[in-house]
Amino acid sequence: MEETRTQFLASRLFFLTAAFWVLVAMTLGLIMAIQLAVPETYADIPQLLYSRLRPAHVNLVVFGLVLPGLVGAALYVVPTVCRTTLFAPWLAVASAVLWNGVNLGILGTLIHGMTQGREYAELIWELDVAVLVMYALLIVCVFGTIARRKEKLLYVSAWYIAGGLCWTAVVWVVGNVMWHPDTGSLSGISDAILNWFHGHNVLGLVITPAAVGVAYFIIPHATRTPIYSHTLSLLGFWMLLFVYTHTGTHHLLQAPVPQWLKVLSIVDSVALLIPVFAFLTNVWLPLRERIGRLHQDVGAKFVFVGTVWYFITCLQGPLHSLPVVQRLTHFTNWVVGHAHIAVLGFAGFISMGAVFYLLPRVSGRRLWSVRMAEAQYWLMSIGLIGFFLTLTSAGLIQGQAWLNGEVIYRILPQMSLYMVLRALLGIMMLTGGTLFTINVVMTIWRGQKVDS
Ligand code: HEM
Ligand code: HEM
Repeated sequence: MEETRTQFLASRLFFLTAAFWVLVAMTLGLIMAIQLAVPETYADIPQLLYSRLRPAHVNLVVFGLVLPGLVGAALYVVPTVCRTTLFAPWLAVASAVLWNGVNLGILGTLIHGMTQGREYAELIWELDVAVLVMYALLIVCVFGTIARRKEKLLYVSAWYIAGGLCWTAVVWVVGNVMWHPDTGSLSGISDAILNWFHGHNVLGLVITPAAVGVAYFIIPHATRTPIYSHTLSLLGFWMLLFVYTHTGTHHLLQAPVPQWLKVLSIVDSVALLIPVFAFLTNVWLPLRERIGRLHQDVGAKFVFVGTVWYFITCLQGPLHSLPVVQRLTHFTNWVVGHAHIAVLGFAGFISMGAVFYLLPRVSGRRLWSVRMAEAQYWLMSIGLIGFFLTLTSAGLIQGQAWLNGEVIYRILPQMSLYMVLRALLGIMMLTGGTLFTINVVMTIWRGQKVDS
């Protein structure tokens, strides 16, 4: 047991990282939501300017909650499916420590207005370099582990995790234009295209493979049911790589980018249904008579619900990639609704589920309170469904009004109710996030020993 604890120190650190930063990230979201409901609330505080809080919120949900939970899980999953121990675990520990330094840097720089001003690539060059180092450390651990594996067949989770890490490193350097440290950008429309190549790949080639890889491990493990087909799983993996890399321009359908690039991005957005359904078929189909087993473990339940949100997100995604739909939905709260069901519903739920499922295995302690985790599950599920309905409705009203030639400020009074509702739902979500933090910390600190 002692050996296991040292071996999985990095996983525990990453789980604690997620448990701490979720509070910061959600608090920033709530502060913004209050500002949208009651404008000018903090008009005299420059650090709370909306334009500073928004990138801080977005970067911290990604680097604060979603990725640390998934990376901590990956550091357990990869050695397990390779039937070996983690290679150079201290490098992973170093990455976890650096990770927290980067999160501090993200918060400190962005709320003080130090930004490169490109959406999803706001971080200053020094932080970009630090992120690259923390990925590089993880790449060494993961590939070192795979290289000394005792299991001949490389299970799909390892493919996704290893692939995701490599793509991340490449996308990060290119997307952040790291060879231009001062601006981190090209110029004009080329930069917009590159920015969204990066923006959507952060979601599709970094977060998605990590979440899919972890779910591919936890759902079959919890239900003691093998996936439907290994070949199908690898088909999904290669298809994801093949089609996702071209979809970034679907964010720029209203911009003067070359027509062929728009068409390519739309076609590939619809083609994304193939890897999505390859994954869902593989984990859902074998569950037909065993779905009840998922309810025996609250972590597995979170992960499963994450796959349901993935399904909904990926039906909505191709739909609003079509120009005829995007004319109505672009630049409205519809997209913010999509962003929350995607990043929180899909990746966040899988990340938090993985923390609950694997924490006892990496700490040797039982989950502090299953009831608390269940309460968090309901608070966050109701909160998220509420977010989705509220923001989608608000988005449709905005889109319809603008298509009818209405100007923005005349729609604002109609938005008020939705913004108030979102702020109230945000309080629910933050309460859920607080339960998560308490549960993770208490499990590691006071949890009952598994072998006692
Ligand atoms: C089949 C899969 C998907 C497709 C085709 C798709 C398509 C799109 C499109 C077209 C937009 C831009 C909408 C607009 O600006 O009008 C968008 C936005 C977004 N998507 Fe997806 N999506 C998919 C899955 C996902 C997943 C899995 C995630 C998260 C891991 C995600 C996260 C986001 C986010 C955060 C935004 C907001 C970006 C912004 O700030 O404008 N999407 N998606
Ligand atoms: C207390 C809970 C939360 C509240 C109140 C909240 C609120 C907000 C607000 C007000 C925005 C800006 C929307 C805009 O500019 O119109 C936003 C953006 C965003 N939030 Fe949250 N949020 C919360 C939790 C989360 C969580 C947990 C995640 C993911 C794990 C998340 C992911 C995002 C993303 C990806 C965006 C960017 C949306 C886009 O670019 O279209 N949020 N959030």
